[in-house]
Amino acid sequence: MSTNETPLRQKSIALIGFMGVGKTSIGKEVAKMLYRDFIDADKEIEAAFHMPASEIFQTYGEKVFRHKEKEILQKLCKQKLKIISLGGGAFLQEEIRNVCLEECIVFYLDLSWESWQERISLLIDSRPVLQGKSLKEIKALFEERKSIYQDHHSAVATDQLMIEDAAAYIVKSLKTAWDIYEPQNN
Ligand code: S3P
Repeated sequence: MSTNETPLRQKSIALIGFMGVGKTSIGKEVAKMLYRDFIDADKEIEAAFHMPASEIFQTYGEKVFRHKEKEILQKLCKQKLKIISLGGGAFLQEEIRNVCLEECIVFYLDLSWESWQERISLLIDSRPVLQGKSLKEIKALFEERKSIYQDHHSAVATDQLMIEDAAAYIVKSLKTAWDIYEPQNN
């Protein structure tokens, strides 16, 4: 797993998955448990434009959003000891995928379509990618993205898990990997 110079224990943790699966809330919890800083990549993009993602899409278009997303994530992923939540479309960009898999430990938050559907009303207004799409089209996007997210280091099936449980699972899994690959003497 450790393909670059950074010790595994210092690598940042990247959370990927479809929009609304809980990357931010679970990420914040993991950060708390590991005494690390949490960074939401979307918030960084929004800060750069001084507007919410939906307005960036509206004003400048998706291409400009994606360009900034790539620029920001290429820098963020190289930082150590962070917990980073990626926007659901970020992994579609090969450069982001590559830098993330090389520099970070990537966890895929895997939520079923059935569970995800129950959240749709909470997401639709703030997620430009969902707007104007039928449920059938959203399902197709969900399925299509699933294959992109298969490039990860570890996955968590979150359907039956509360935020704290998913975070605890990730922390436990990390500690196991650290102990196996970078055992400490004490
Ligand atoms: C997007 C997901 C959003 C945000 C933007 C585009 C996508 O992030 O980056 O609206 O293409 O899936 P979340 O996954 O945090 O909702």
